[in-house]
Amino acid sequence: MTETTTTKEHSTSPKEAAAATSPKSAGGSPKSSGSPKGRTSPAVGPSIEEAIEADDAANDDADSAFGDASSSTASITSSILRYRTINGRRFHSETGNALYCHHIWTLAQDGKLYLAPLSPNIEKAIDIGCGTGTWAIDFADEFPNCEVIGTDISPIQPSWVPPNLKFEIDDCTQEWTFEPDSADYVHIRYLIGTIKDWSALFKQAFKTLKPGGYLESFEGCPYIVSDDGTITPQMAMGQWGDVFVEGSKKTERTFTVVRDGIQRKAMEEAGFVDLQEWNYKCPMSPWPKDRKLKEMGLYGEIFATGDPEGFLTFVTSILGWSREQFAVFNAMFRREVHDRRNHGYYRIKVVWGRKP
Ligand SMILES: C[S@@+](CC[C@H](N)C(=O)[O-])C[C@H]1O[C@@H](n2cnc3c(N)ncnc32)[C@H](O)[C@@H]1O
Repeated sequence: MTETTTTKEHSTSPKEAAAATSPKSAGGSPKSSGSPKGRTSPAVGPSIEEAIEADDAANDDADSAFGDASSSTASITSSILRYRTINGRRFHSETGNALYCHHIWTLAQDGKLYLAPLSPNIEKAIDIGCGTGTWAIDFADEFPNCEVIGTDISPIQPSWVPPNLKFEIDDCTQEWTFEPDSADYVHIRYLIGTIKDWSALFKQAFKTLKPGGYLESFEGCPYIVSDDGTITPQMAMGQWGDVFVEGSKKTERTFTVVRDGIQRKAMEEAGFVDLQEWNYKCPMSPWPKDRKLKEMGLYGEIFATGDPEGFLTFVTSILGWSREQFAVFNAMFRREVHDRRNHGYYRIKVVWGRKP
């Protein structure tokens, strides 16, 4: 482990949104790609389009299989540790929602960190908007011979990281300073609500990638929906997406990236070819019958209800809500999420393409 953080530029972090989500279908199951250690990574499961079956036994707050998320964060954190131990990954000591969010993505993708068909011999990978760097650390561990660079506008990355990883503070909406044609892979996850021009962003990635290199974009949709009508527009869960979309009209940084298919359009505009996508549903609590979806929901519940301050900042500063308005909405939202009879989920979408 080495201590490597390069500061190009400091500025305050933009307001981040809370819940993520979303997709549609397409693509089918992407092919697996071998890891540099010679392990055969399993293919990730197919996109979900069909309705998710609910677990009627989960209607009570206490879920026998997984416990009550709100009352046992410690045991949930230790179950992430167990998962990471089984998968040979190091445990990240940072707290907060970032780890839950990363874990939900990892579960959804059956443990895989990427879906693009990367060669085991890639030499340089860049993670744009890396946040706390959890993905970049895992990726650097999985590709020890690859130089990995994580960039973010906010200096929130840990100091001790794998020797092949470094962090740089940089604004991805400015001209990228990486050498053109230098990277094999650019990874961009969860930048909804922060980008004005996705085509311009992906054009920077296009410029930076070597011919044959891959850009992969992972985004969530803020709309919380259900397949069985248990989420209605009157509910706080039903209004959650609208709140962010309304706010993004003011910031001009859209939250409808998934719903409007912006990832694919922007990649095409940037010149990427062989586009593929994968779509999934992320439950808001452990209400599904399926074990994997139930586990995702357990972390989803913590992720959605664990950081009301982020949401508070967004609605008060952008939409001008009062603290009282926020308190009422937040209480309704939390009660609805914890009620297992509400079968809400959000969609996530991954799109990847190759530079010809
Ligand atoms: C929701 S977090 C996602 C973090 C990470 N990609 C992940 O999936 O765990 C969004 C991140 O984007 C960063 N960000 C927002 N605007 C940015 C910009 N213009 N340039 C670089 N990073 C930015 C934020 O500081 C934050 O760390």
